Amino acid sequence: MELTILGATGATGTSLAGQALAAGHEVTAVVRDPARLAVPVQQRLRIVTADVMDPAAISPAIAGADAVLSALGPHGSGRTTISQDSARSIIEAMQKTGARRLLTVSGSVVTDAGEGPVMRYLLKPLARRTFLRHVCADMRAAEAKIRASDLDWTIFRPPRLTGKPAAGTYRTTIDRNLPRGYTISRADLAACMLTLLDDPATVHRHVSIAN
Ligand SMILES: NC(=O)c1ccc[n+]([C@@H]2O[C@H](COP(=O)([O-])OP(=O)(O)OC[C@H]3O[C@@H](n4cnc5c(N)ncnc54)[C@H](OP(=O)(O)O)[C@@H]3O)[C@@H](O)[C@H]2O)c1
Repeated sequence: MELTILGATGATGTSLAGQALAAGHEVTAVVRDPARLAVPVQQRLRIVTADVMDPAAISPAIAGADAVLSALGPHGSGRTTISQDSARSIIEAMQKTGARRLLTVSGSVVTDAGEGPVMRYLLKPLARRTFLRHVCADMRAAEAKIRASDLDWTIFRPPRLTGKPAAGTYRTTIDRNLPRGYTISRADLAACMLTLLDDPATVHRHVSIAN
């Protein structure tokens, strides 16, 4: 498939691009600084330098894509609008170019569905009031924009991401979080996203994933 990956210089994006290339996909990596791309230059990798917040700038990288994958996110936990602003831009570019399939990374912090009482009533409200306040608000705003679009979207909601190697096995649920789903490796998250690229059962769904 022809895949366009935004956030390809990030940790999850690196896994996504590397695994997609290894699986034989054609990959267009949209980056703001090509020097930060950790994936080796190779034949099926096209690198496009563009401002992800500018739909006109990213449209040429999105035109013709069978799927667009975004692992964009803020560095740190301060005030941010990167998730919602990039979602707006990606949606506009996809609508303009006719690309339909969008897979994006959000976070398990946005919802309490599926959680046990300690997470639901204690830990998550605390995180949302304190260190994840801005990130969560931005993720929720981005999700709302994606749900309101007419695209064939899937939103992934991982818990804390780790840099561990792929375990190759992980749990998923649809539209609710996983009980005791505390971590997932970026490698497994990337593998899951690629596995569900053309899975119709996950269109217009939120996929929670955890080890
Ligand atoms: N960390 C966690 O535990 C956790 C938990 C749940 C969900 N998430 C979400 O999972 C996703 C992936 O996380 P990660 O840790 O793999 O991400 P990461 O390594 O921090 O990578 C973030 C990516 O976003 C890009 N980016 C950041 N600010 C940008 C801006 N203003 N304009 C354009 N690009 C920008 C970065 O590009 P540059 O390389 O150019 O900076 C990079 O490619 C994120 O959406 C994150 O919020 C994370």
